[in-house]
Amino acid sequence: MNSAIKKIFLFFFVCMMASCLFHCPVSLHAEGILGKLAKGEGKWGQHWKPIEMFRWWDPEHYFEPENKIEGVFEGEKCVICHTLTTPRIAIDWKESAHSKAGVTCDKCHGSDHQKIQLPNPDTCAKCHPEQVNEFKSEKETGHPSHARAFHPDVVEAGWQISKPQPEVAGCAQCHAVENKCDSCHFRHRFKAAEARRPEACSYCHNGPDHRDTECYTTSAHGVITALDGDNWDWDKPLKVGNYRAPTCAYCHMYNGTHNAVENAVYSHIGVEEIDRGAEEFAEKRKAWTNICNDCHSARFAAAYLRGADETVKVSHAKVREAKAVVEDLHKEGLLDAMPKDLARYLDEGHKWNLGGRMYNVTAIEREFFDMLVYQGTTIFKAAFHMSANLQTYELGAFKQDESLAKIKSEASKLRRLKSLEDKVGIKYESFDFWKVGEYTNSLKVIK
Ligand code: HEC
Ligand code: HEC
Ligand code: HEC
Ligand code: HEC
Ligand code: HEC
Ligand code: HEC
Ligand code: HEC
Ligand code: HEC
Repeated sequence: MNSAIKKIFLFFFVCMMASCLFHCPVSLHAEGILGKLAKGEGKWGQHWKPIEMFRWWDPEHYFEPENKIEGVFEGEKCVICHTLTTPRIAIDWKESAHSKAGVTCDKCHGSDHQKIQLPNPDTCAKCHPEQVNEFKSEKETGHPSHARAFHPDVVEAGWQISKPQPEVAGCAQCHAVENKCDSCHFRHRFKAAEARRPEACSYCHNGPDHRDTECYTTSAHGVITALDGDNWDWDKPLKVGNYRAPTCAYCHMYNGTHNAVENAVYSHIGVEEIDRGAEEFAEKRKAWTNICNDCHSARFAAAYLRGADETVKVSHAKVREAKAVVEDLHKEGLLDAMPKDLARYLDEGHKWNLGGRMYNVTAIEREFFDMLVYQGTTIFKAAFHMSANLQTYELGAFKQDESLAKIKSEASKLRRLKSLEDKVGIKYESFDFWKVGEYTNSLKVIK
């Protein structure tokens, strides 16, 4: 069949199945034309509007069905029509364990097409209570964790709400992991074997402030998985004896638990200096060495992890040295511009917050942010994921050296400039471009 005929056929088939009840495509909702998208939720709700994709990233708050199709369908009826409307979804579902077990589309989406729903973890809980309870128990462990990724950490984060939403769409895309269960075993196969592979986590755990994937793929564990993984039976559960080298889930979801933070020591993604080897974390450390002990001697594992603790400490010493230099500039009034001269942050106003700020700040403050939040977290992740290069070279310790050197040079220039200005009697006032500009104007609450 050529594609034009296919489309005509599809059109008639859809009309027939839906009893030809297509509705007006624009439906006016009580809240106005945008419906639930008119306003964000949470404490900053009045300051931002979600982009359309929030319907799928946070269906519980924003999803509304399109009302194109009218009728109540069950089982194969949904599948038959969707074989034409969204063919690949139907194929993936047919290849899934759900299809074999008779878990048809309506079991997750409901059967009335006018009220079609997108499933959240509670939908899955009807049949998989154990996984959902474990997943939700992450909330008790503090954060970060999948179970609190979206609401506390993105929607309530004033600094990202201050930015134009299309710019920060990535936050919601990764952090939607809180709202749905298709993040590691993708819809509509929902295959456990997929989630066991490191690639499933790498979809989100990559980039400057969570360089887990880059560290893992350059470790012996990642290299062995890449070399030999095609020969492994990924249908086997992540248990001792089944895998030659550990994947992310092997270590972080040991024995298949859906609480990925059970053994994590909270350190604000590595930004806070925490000694994981300290007595107070002895139980967690023991849990880690037990995992390593599946394949290594306990002594080898403990020694390696102690080494990683020391690597992290050195990186924080460097950060403290840099911090003192920038703090002094601030005290002396030498930063160009001072926080009071900048567009204010939605949540903190003009408060000076070194380390939490990455935009609309001076170059030296930004350099410090990189040192702490990007390089520091990379060193932590590289050390604990056994990436030789990334902890010492490229983006790790030696990159921090470069930043420390830049910070000192910049501080030196600012001081020398100030002494010249003082000598010739120039009183510096910060330029307007710190406050206004085509992009800068779009930041919230600039008045
Ligand atoms: C008569 C054909 C037909 C039947 C039967 C049908 N659908 Fe649909 N469905 C559609 C069409 C057409 C769309 C819109 C697709 C698009 O936007 O490309 C749709 C959209 C959807 C969406 C997507 C909602 C969104 O906005 O992202 C879901 C979920 C869905 N259907 C599930 C189901 C389920 C579950 C059943 C059975 C209860 C079912 N469908 C039965 C034709 C059908
Ligand atoms: C095991 C539960 C489950 C079953 C069964 C299921 N879905 Fe889904 N479906 C999901 C999840 C989870 C999402 C993602 C929800 C989100 O994005 O928030 C989804 C999203 C969708 C979407 C919208 C997203 C997109 O990519 O367009 C469509 C359309 C859809 N499903 C159709 C179907 C159809 C048709 C069937 C049956 C062949 C089906 N689903 C069976 C869980 C299920
Ligand atoms: C769809 C994106 C996504 C996927 C896929 C994903 N994660 Fe996450 N993960 C996140 C986010 C976002 C956070 C941080 C949540 C927050 O803000 O509190 C997180 C947090 C974590 C934490 C806690 C971090 C800490 O500092 O305590 C661990 C451990 C973790 N994930 C492991 C994994 C593993 C292992 C996989 C794969 C099996 C995986 N994640 C897959 C997005 C994802
Ligand atoms: C109506 C019951 C039902 C619902 C609702 C349901 N499932 Fe399932 N699920 C099953 C059954 C039955 C199996 C196959 C038997 C088994 O492995 O437990 C299964 C298997 C699975 C598997 C393992 C597949 C494999 O490769 O071994 C995953 C992953 C999964 N479901 C995820 C989900 C997610 C995510 C949701 C919600 C979006 C969901 N399920 C909703 C009943 C359900
Ligand atoms: C961070 C990644 C990740 C997220 C998020 C996730 N899963 Fe899983 N899931 C996995 C991994 C990895 C496995 C394989 C575990 C194993 O080998 O024992 C798995 C397996 C499963 C299985 C099959 C269990 C079995 O023993 O066959 C079910 C059912 C399941 N998940 C449901 C869910 C539900 C429901 C949610 C939402 C609360 C969810 N998952 C969210 C990674 C994830
Ligand atoms: C050999 C086991 C192992 C493997 C494989 C592994 N990790 Fe880790 N991971 C660790 C250890 C150990 C820590 C530091 C734990 C601690 O004490 O907090 C850690 C830390 C983390 C953290 C910070 C939260 C925490 O627990 O401190 C995240 C997020 C993370 N790993 C994600 C991943 C991802 C994603 C992958 C795969 C790309 C992966 N890990 C592979 C052992 C592993
Ligand atoms: C590529 C996926 C991805 C993107 C994009 C992303 N994040 Fe994350 N985020 C993560 C992961 C993964 C973690 C967990 C890191 C860890 O613990 O090592 C995380 C952690 C966090 C944390 C936890 C901090 C803490 O220590 O409690 C916050 C807050 C956060 N992200 C907010 C945001 C915001 C706001 C944005 C957008 C500006 C964003 N994220 C963009 C994946 C992402
Ligand atoms: C499922 C098995 C398995 C687990 C679990 C495991 N490893 Fe490994 N690891 C290996 C294999 C196999 C190698 C490659 C051995 C070689 O280098 O010849 C390796 C290599 C290493 C190396 C580099 C080799 C070297 O001698 O420098 C380090 C370091 C390491 N592992 C530490 C750990 C730590 C720490 C843990 C626990 C957090 C851990 N591993 C968990 C299998 C495992």
